[in-house]
Formats: sequence, C-alpha cells, structure tokens
Amino acid sequence: MIPLSEPLFEGNEWKYLKACLDSGWISAAGPLTSQLEERFSHLLKTEGMVALASGTAALHLALKASHVQEGDLVLVSDYSFIASANVIRYCGADPIFMETHPETWQADPLALSNWLDRHASRQDNTCYHLESGRKIAAMIVVHAYGFPADVIAFADISNTWNIPWIEDAAGAIGSKIHDQEVGTFAPFGAYSLNGNKILTAGGGGLLACKSKHDETYIRHISRQAKTEGAHYIHDEAGYNYRLPDIMAAVALAQSERLEAFLSRKKEIALQYRHSLPHLHWQKHGPESAPNYWMLAFRTPQKTRILHHLIEHGIQAKEGWYPLHLQPPYRGSLFAGNPANTIDIYNQVVCLPSSVGLKAEELEQVISAIKEIE
Ligand SMILES: Cc1ncc(COP(=O)(O)O)c(C=O)c1O
Repeated sequence: MIPLSEPLFEGNEWKYLKACLDSGWISAAGPLTSQLEERFSHLLKTEGMVALASGTAALHLALKASHVQEGDLVLVSDYSFIASANVIRYCGADPIFMETHPETWQADPLALSNWLDRHASRQDNTCYHLESGRKIAAMIVVHAYGFPADVIAFADISNTWNIPWIEDAAGAIGSKIHDQEVGTFAPFGAYSLNGNKILTAGGGGLLACKSKHDETYIRHISRQAKTEGAHYIHDEAGYNYRLPDIMAAVALAQSERLEAFLSRKKEIALQYRHSLPHLHWQKHGPESAPNYWMLAFRTPQKTRILHHLIEHGIQAKEGWYPLHLQPPYRGSLFAGNPANTIDIYNQVVCLPSSVGLKAEELEQVISAIKEIE
C-alpha cells in the first residue's frame, strides 16, 4: 500500500536517540527539550517557543493563557481535525464554528466579519455574542492541511473586535506568508509533531509565543505549575504537558531536515498539479508559500475515485468531517453558512503526500487517477 503520509528517518535520529539513552536523561529534565525550543525559536523566528506533549496540548495551553473561562464562546474553523474544537471544551467553553471558504477550505474572514457585525458587540474591550450575552473570548484559526489561512485578515478582525486569537498551525510547520512563518502572526501558534506531520517525534507539539511573558507562563503550567525549589508547591492546577527528551532527540534530528523536506514536498505537489492540471486542487493566496503537507483535491466523484485508488494499493483518504456535525458539537453556534464545509467534505480526496514518496509511487498514483477520470 502506498501510504497517505508517513515519516522519513534518514538523518541523525538514531544517533541522537542513542546519545539520549546513553546519557540516561530521557525525561523533560534533560537538556534536549530546551535545545529543541531554541532550535525552533530560531527556525521560525519567534520570541518564545515551548515544546509540549502534543499539538492538542499546545492549543489547550494557548487558550488558557488567552484567559478563556468556563461559559465563554470561542470561534474556530469548521474544516479541521477535531482537536481544534476539543480544546475549547477542555476550558469549559463552547465553540462557534466559522464558515469555510470553498476554494481555500480555510475559515472565511469576510463571512466572519459580516456575522460579527450582526451578532456581536464590544463593551469595555470585550466582545460579546448579542443573543446569548456570552463572551467571545478567543478565536482559533486553522491552517487547513498546512496551507496558510488569511492571517492578515484575521489579525485585523482580532484587533477590531478585541478577540485574542491563536493559529492552529498543527500541520503548517514551514509554511509562509510574505516570507513570515505561519504560526507566528498571532500571539500563539500551535504546531504538531504527530507521526503524520512533515516533522515528527512520534508525537509532540510546539507552541510559538509572541511574548516572553507568555512563554514563561506556558512553560510553568505545562510542568504542573511547580514553583521553584526543592519542595512540592504548585501555584495553580497545572498540566503534565512537557515533551520528554527522548522525543526531543528525534524532533531535533528531524528539524535538521526541514528545508530538504519542504523542497521535496513542493516537488511532489507540483508534479501532481502539472500531471493532473484539471483537478480542483486546494487553493492558496499568491503571497503565501504552503508547506504542501497534505495534497488534496475536490471532485464530485469522491467515492468512486477513493475506491479505485484503494483497490490499486493507494492509501487515499476522504477529508475531515465538518466539526459542526461531529457528535459532541451538533447544535453549536455557527458564524455564517455551514453548507460550504459539507460540500467540501462531500468532495475532498487526500492523496499520498509523504515526504519519502518515491518517483515511481507518485507516477502510480497519477496513472491510477488518470485511468478513472
Ligand atoms: C488541524 C489540527 N489541529 C490539531 C491537531 C492535533 O495535533 P496533535 O495530534 O499533535 O495533538 C491536528 C493533528 O493532526 C491537526 O491536524
């Protein structure tokens, strides 16, 4: 089977893992987690960076640091992996799903602005939902499949409406807009190091923070909020969300390959697009450079194409199920028209996109698609 998205370990992974095991420092008390944070802070050019147990943990702590409280509302992209919404529930808040743009598959800032004009008000630097009177405490903008969402427009909305925002850049490490790294536009940007991402440690996450103050706070609550000293005094109910050194060892080796991985991803994406130009590929703005994490297109023939590819030993997959239809979130508030996400779900086919995809495998996928069209 040609896999959808699998990792590639051909750098220093074994070497760093062995050194980590030999040193005996395998927990987060060792030096590698801090090295990883410094590496990514440098690579992504951000003030603060905290290595965490998962992308989900990174999003959760970003919401905590944005002061989301029980009973609040949080705006979130509707076309995403479920973790983007679950973290809102972890805070005792509820989601408001945002309309999806039919071409980019990202949350649509224009539709959101129109909705806020009709359904929100600002009082004392706080945004409220008019009908329920509840605070709209934050906004999570997802970069779907690693392609950049319109961060400039969302930054503007965040300022205008006093809604703190977070970039869910789980799959978007290495994507850029105007040469700036995606995940560094908002006060917080969450990345995932899950096994299916471009860079992986088997699991894990990173949280980019715009301010040193936020970085210090996030690090503190990710380590059980333990105060300094040889005692067990914890100044709030913290979390055990640290990334252990044994995983940081793998992530460090992977980070050395980022540029090579990004250029291979781009080659794969361009070959798909050149060989199958009539397919309805996911779009992105002219000023943005995606990392091409997951390569996907829209087609009214989704089921037929998926069956055909799977029969030919190709692990193609359907896209994300709209979050507003997921069982835990049915009946949630929606900002705009939910139909766009449903249309996207009904049509999206994700293709093998692994960084280690071989030329002959790529040809095999392309030929299989040409056969069925
Ligand atoms: C858009 C999005 N957000 C959040 C996550 C959660 O990341 P993790 O699996 O590292 O917790 C994922 C994981 O695939 C994702 O795709």
